[in-house]
Amino acid sequence: MKSEIIQPVKALSGGIELPGDKSISHRYAMLAALAGGTSELRNFAAARDCHSTLGCIKSLGADISVNGATVKITGHGLRGLKSSWRTLDAENSGTTIRLLSGILSGQSFTSKITGDASLQKRPMKRVITPLREMGADIRGRDDNFPPLEIRGGKLHAIHYQMPMASAQVKSAVLLAGLFADGETSVTEPAATRDHTELALEEFGAPVRKSGRTITVQGLTVGNGNPALRPISADVPGDLSSAVFFIAAASLFAESNLYLGNVGLNPTRSAILDFFKQMGAGISVVNLQSKQGELVGDLSVKGAQLKGGLISGNLVPLLIDELPMLAALGPYTEQGIELRDAAELRVKESDRIAALAENLKRMGAKVEERPGGLHVEGRSGGPLHGAEIDPRGDHRIAMAFAVAGLAAQGETRILDSDCAGVSYPAFFSELRRLAGG
Ligand code: S3P
Repeated sequence: MKSEIIQPVKALSGGIELPGDKSISHRYAMLAALAGGTSELRNFAAARDCHSTLGCIKSLGADISVNGATVKITGHGLRGLKSSWRTLDAENSGTTIRLLSGILSGQSFTSKITGDASLQKRPMKRVITPLREMGADIRGRDDNFPPLEIRGGKLHAIHYQMPMASAQVKSAVLLAGLFADGETSVTEPAATRDHTELALEEFGAPVRKSGRTITVQGLTVGNGNPALRPISADVPGDLSSAVFFIAAASLFAESNLYLGNVGLNPTRSAILDFFKQMGAGISVVNLQSKQGELVGDLSVKGAQLKGGLISGNLVPLLIDELPMLAALGPYTEQGIELRDAAELRVKESDRIAALAENLKRMGAKVEERPGGLHVEGRSGGPLHGAEIDPRGDHRIAMAFAVAGLAAQGETRILDSDCAGVSYPAFFSELRRLAGG
């Protein structure tokens, strides 16, 4: 297994363009597979997860060509997918299996979909319940875990009151809604990322939003006529990947970092507000809209970070950034506290346990709780380098690589290749910007 050594550095400086946003890339790829014609997606995510989605939709009959970061996908209309003779493999990607479950529920054939050892431990009941209500027949291990067998069929529209704030659940229901008779709506208990809603609109699906309720019109098309139109799109850079560099630059007074073309969708950018609230030196320029998604450039200078509490409705808005925030805790004035974040225990790893264990290895003072953790700030003493076990989780590996930059001595990130799940070039870019 490959590992990466992180040495202490003095600053992060220079410019970087992030690979395409993972969440948006998944959605564009899936909808392109349902459109009639060829979509061209530029700056498509380099993330392994999004290539898992491409593998699945290819097995379902979409034609795909990949040329660097430009991906062309030819769909054969809303009813154009074909049964795959092999089990679909979502590998490590929760977004792939949960969103595709929605689409597979509306097909006139049976599909099997599974993933790697981590994905096979992640709960699917949250999508099984509403999709069953719409008429799909879904079986899973213990009625909850992959592999899933999905017997699609005629779906009926429902109004689903979501019991939890999850963009993946919302998206699975809305995508299934494309195949249902009538209008399917979803009400979320707290705001989550709205890329599915924006992408549906770009591909020409009738979708509307009122408060926390999103409604999509089923597209009952006859004779295989395409109802969704292909798009030509530039995927914005991934803010959740940018956050590792924003955090790293913030740690050093001499840093001066410029991040170009970053996705700043308001349902994702709460992390920038949180950083600013902590005293970070971030400014945003060149704001523009691309396919309904807000994009801009960021400049980041070093700062003394205050730390703070993340709880309640802020949790789903910062969900993928929580590992980085927690790992920054020991470098902040007041430390970082996470509450209401038990969802982190069922991500690519049990992120609360992984954070607590690895922070302790570096000498941090941490209290692990069922729904979060408390990480003591600078008063807990300086961090020292350590061997980090990311438990196969990309965001844990990247968060501790950043923490290692300001620790005393060397940090070794074991199984560092797992970063490729979202950001294959992460370590080389980090070394370049740190002048190493
Ligand atoms: C995602 C939604 C979030 C997030 C995941 C990507 C998406 O998951 O953690 O990395 O693209 O919809 P949940 O919907 O389970 O919160």
